[in-house]
Amino acid sequence: MKTIIEPFKIKSVEPIRFTTREEREAALRKGAYNLFLVRAEDVLIDLLTDSGTAAMSAAQWAGMMQGDESYAGARSFYRFEDAVRDLTGFRNIIPTHQGRAAEKILFSLLGGAGKIVPNNTHFDTTRANVEFSGAEAVDFPTDEGKDPDRIADFKGNMDVAALERFLRSTDVSRVPLCMITVTNNSGGGQPVSMRNIRETRDLCRTFGIPLYLDACRFAENAYFIKRREPEYASRSVKEIAQEMFSYADGATMSAKKDAIVNMGGFLALNDDALAQSARNLLIVTEGFPTYGGLAGRDLEAIAQGLVEVMDEHYLQYRIRSVEYLGERLTRAGVPILQPPGGHAVYLNAKKFLPHVPPEEYPGQALVVELFRHGGIRAVEIGSVMFGKQDASGRLIPARMELVRLAIPRRVYTQSHIDYVIEVVTEVFERRSEIKGYKIIEEPPMLRHFTAKFAPL
Ligand code: F0G
Repeated sequence: MKTIIEPFKIKSVEPIRFTTREEREAALRKGAYNLFLVRAEDVLIDLLTDSGTAAMSAAQWAGMMQGDESYAGARSFYRFEDAVRDLTGFRNIIPTHQGRAAEKILFSLLGGAGKIVPNNTHFDTTRANVEFSGAEAVDFPTDEGKDPDRIADFKGNMDVAALERFLRSTDVSRVPLCMITVTNNSGGGQPVSMRNIRETRDLCRTFGIPLYLDACRFAENAYFIKRREPEYASRSVKEIAQEMFSYADGATMSAKKDAIVNMGGFLALNDDALAQSARNLLIVTEGFPTYGGLAGRDLEAIAQGLVEVMDEHYLQYRIRSVEYLGERLTRAGVPILQPPGGHAVYLNAKKFLPHVPPEEYPGQALVVELFRHGGIRAVEIGSVMFGKQDASGRLIPARMELVRLAIPRRVYTQSHIDYVIEVVTEVFERRSEIKGYKIIEEPPMLRHFTAKFAPL
């Protein structure tokens, strides 16, 4: 059949609240034009993130009831450990309350002043954790990955040649590990090819540097490999995912993405001595090693979610529904980062609002307008999030001005997506009326979460 359907029936529903334009205008004013400061109740379609926003299955909810809440040695931990080990093959499996907690532990142990961590593209919390340890975070995206208009299969790849040049010219004792983020979230949710993972592994091995995966969206990445890398066409997604992990020495994972749960994560690694130090830190910051910041029920839900996420009907629907959104917007002339990613479509705000300069935050202006016009919440990934300041306080803009429409897993149906297409298209038709914003208050770090804006 040509029609790809949602591969589930809906057993439990949650109403969404319809608002008037006046109500949304009031919510915007109250939230200082920052959508992180708007109440979720006032949002009609929430595309702020695909993280922790998924709908769990009946089997996951049943697992929640089976959760063993013993402090030590809970049955649920062993079920979780088996599921993660079966997938990743790593010897040590350490649960954490979310992805950044795994990052915090890993970089507390391997980071520090003078160290440098390469990545295809660090996600913002990963970068923040590397930098917080005193180390430097360096990105190696490919040229095609940096071009928002170029259509290519694996725009998330590591620039292996650039990484090699970097390693040859650096004292490698300063490089404690190298990371690959799959899919490349900050680079547009674009996948990384198996070949690229293998080549990066070979290079790291030559220099004696361990390779870690930031595995948040490993299943979406594996599905892209199956569809786009010919030798993998007849392999199962699970086999592909297992091969991806086989090239790495460890991984950090936010289970809030491809384990289809609302909270959770893990650090998994082969190095026993490092794992022991990680568990010692875990006890201080997260909890005992058999629960690590999670309840037994959460561990059950993750174990089940890791199986469900590799169902190929699910992945076909997942990737196709994001692609559908991207295709329809492109057809309407709306500029997006091409091609659509695994978990999100990224609007190209620089092209959408060419009359709004980076100093007036075109991404923020677009985010506000999508909410005002249709109650859709998206997130700016541009100069609000990544802009820096020069010595005189002038903005150094981000490389791209993007607005991410992230699709929660199993939450919205095709008609919700059709509504999103209609809203974005209508906003695009009257784009010339949209004006920029200025920041009137901001914190010293990660300003996008709490900054206050005013319209110009
Ligand atoms: N790595 C990547 C690639 C991510 O996308 C995220 C989270 C993390 C690490 C951190 O995981 O939130 O569980 O601590 N990304 C979310 C997003 C927040 O909206 O893209 P976490």
